[in-house]
Amino acid sequence: MIIGLLNGPNLNLLGTREPSVYGTATLADIMAHLASVATALGVELRHYQANGEGQLIDQVHAWRGEVAGVVVNAGAYSHTSLALRDAFSATSLPFVEVHLSNIHAREPERRHSMLASAAVGMVCGLGADGYEFALRGLVRTLRSRP
Ligand code: DQA
Repeated sequence: MIIGLLNGPNLNLLGTREPSVYGTATLADIMAHLASVATALGVELRHYQANGEGQLIDQVHAWRGEVAGVVVNAGAYSHTSLALRDAFSATSLPFVEVHLSNIHAREPERRHSMLASAAVGMVCGLGADGYEFALRGLVRTLRSRP
């Protein structure tokens, strides 16, 4: 089974970006940890990060038929992008949404996710560990499907 990891705008700056909100782990640190989790789970990973909404949508399209599901942190597009949710619906790719911070405890404009209504589930507020929980939850969900 292959799982896609999709990271959106500004997540390439993790490590130095507002560490009091997002922690000090870099995206490379998080992906390296997920690689070891994936080995333990017996799955393969594909990772893509982009700052552009269209690039993220194109990657979801490209993953159709290649990955079984996606762990996605769409950054600020989570709050605005109906187009990204449509991309998941159009490709029928199951996804788990992840946020490092607890978006429900932040500014009002961050409390709604455009993606959430189409997601298998969401993990937020648990920092970098949330990616691991999202990956484990997605794989377990996919494996339990008939
Ligand atoms: C984020 C939360 C978003 O509101 C923000 O725009 C991000 C990161 C998170 O991981 O907590 O870029 O998705």
